Amino acid sequence: MGRSGSHLDNRSWQRELKRLQAAAGGDRDRWQRRRARQSGQRSGAHDPLIRMGEFFLAVNPDEGRLLYLLARAARARYIVEFGASYGVSTLFLGAAAADNEARLVTTEVHPDKCRAIRQTLREAELDSVVTLLEGDARETIPAQEPGIDMLFLDGWKSQYLPLLKSVEPLLAPSALVVADNAFHEATADYVDYMMTNQRWFSHRVGNMLVSLFR
Ligand SMILES: C[S@@+](CC[C@H](N)C(=O)[O-])C[C@H]1O[C@@H](n2cnc3c(N)ncnc32)[C@H](O)[C@@H]1O
Repeated sequence: MGRSGSHLDNRSWQRELKRLQAAAGGDRDRWQRRRARQSGQRSGAHDPLIRMGEFFLAVNPDEGRLLYLLARAARARYIVEFGASYGVSTLFLGAAAADNEARLVTTEVHPDKCRAIRQTLREAELDSVVTLLEGDARETIPAQEPGIDMLFLDGWKSQYLPLLKSVEPLLAPSALVVADNAFHEATADYVDYMMTNQRWFSHRVGNMLVSLFR
């Protein structure tokens, strides 16, 4: 798909998106159950990187469509995603990659999520377009080839700025960087850098910061 028509019209892709969005809709209930379970007890076994496995933490449908639109409009041929979770944003970026005859490299550290994403990509007929790198994206992304046209940041927020800086040498001229949930305390250093550094032109769109590399 993507060679004639759009992958957005692919029935298998649509089915997978619907399935994930329905499951992601349960995040709030899961959060409440978790808080109830944890009230009065403090968990010691807490991996700072591999956590929140029960949560999707997914982009909403408007954000997903915006990602698709930006990737298509930028004619991105090589897209990289930091933080796939169960793959909602990956479906939108993957559809754009299919329609652009491009490729998407996505990253995720949680092993259960990685297993689920692989299955989702097969079902959505995107497994030939999307490569999933399992592990810490701070190691896997900087090891990728240069020429990245679009980078989507959606991993743990405190990592946005260090990750961005490590990827800057790999960005193509006029690369687009989109950061989700960018207006949090943990991303203040990232927003400050992207708004003040002369190499970047940035604009806020909802909860996202969209930046152009120049
Ligand atoms: C907000 S969720 C991503 C949501 C996803 N983009 C979507 O819209 O469906 C963040 C994900 O990033 C992953 N993550 C955080 N830091 C990471 C890292 N250093 N390397 C790889 N994955 C990471 C987490 O395990 C989590 O699943």
